Amino acid sequence: MNDLTAAVLVSIARVNRGSGDVDPPTELGHLVRERRNMSTDELIQLDEDQLDYFTEDGHKVYRAQWQEQTGRIPMEIGGVDEEFRILDIGGANGRFSDQLLAEYPRAQAVVVDNSEYLLEQNIPNDRKRLLLGSATQLPEILGGEKFDFVFVNCLLHHLVTGSYSGSRRTIRGVLRDLSASLSERGRVSIWENVFEGTLLTNLPSRAIFEITSVRALSKIARKLGANTAGVGVCFLSRPQWRSELNAVGLEVLDSHWTPMGLPLYQRLPLTIGAVGAVHLWCGKAQ
Ligand SMILES: C[S@@+](CC[C@H](N)C(=O)[O-])C[C@H]1O[C@@H](n2cnc3c(N)ncnc32)[C@H](O)[C@@H]1O
Repeated sequence: MNDLTAAVLVSIARVNRGSGDVDPPTELGHLVRERRNMSTDELIQLDEDQLDYFTEDGHKVYRAQWQEQTGRIPMEIGGVDEEFRILDIGGANGRFSDQLLAEYPRAQAVVVDNSEYLLEQNIPNDRKRLLLGSATQLPEILGGEKFDFVFVNCLLHHLVTGSYSGSRRTIRGVLRDLSASLSERGRVSIWENVFEGTLLTNLPSRAIFEITSVRALSKIARKLGANTAGVGVCFLSRPQWRSELNAVGLEVLDSHWTPMGLPLYQRLPLTIGAVGAVHLWCGKAQ
């Protein structure tokens, strides 16, 4: 179980939507586990070799993203000696939360991820709790806990089920649940990759969903650079994100666009015009 020490409390939450049964916690060395039966609904999960892409080498905390997201933490919270709580959904190996905890000594973090493999790669920190479970089960996993800042970095497009409409419903459900986990002063920070069309804004992301979800096309999709080949990935355009957020009572208070490059062989067949990462800084609509 790697080198997790007593400083890390890993609650491995396996949630059963129906009964919510919880087996008594078992202590394994320095790990405290809460064992529950986990149902992943109809979510399709990435294989371990696909998850490898999100480990240390593949997924760093880039400076521009860091400044854009944490620069918005108000001075009256981050700049004073006051406790605040962050939730990092799809937080993987915890590098983003680690950096936050290092910069804000009074912050407490909860990292949720449905990959035990990635959670185990977290560096121990007694201000960080790791919860193994799906973003689709936030109410059960969090049990009503509230957070001042919820970070959702490159997670939402992975919430893919057997159909496009099911995936969209799932994403909306997670947005609704995370909005309910906000404290009075709470803010949500969403970082998402975006592929918008030159002709039809929403077309490329829909095409990417279809190409990446078909198992028979997985070899081609991998060659085109999709690490999600055969599983599916549900990107949305910026107008689609705004409409999803509005639908669950979240208001985009500020946003930022970071353009990215994409080779012509990927861009042309899918009529991709704008490629980049969008940051959506949101609060509950008044
Ligand atoms: C693209 S990685 C992003 C990791 C990290 N947030 C970052 O920005 O570097 C997506 C992460 O979401 C996690 N994930 C995928 N589906 C999930 C789900 N249903 N519930 C919780 N985590 C999920 C994956 O295990 C992975 O760690």
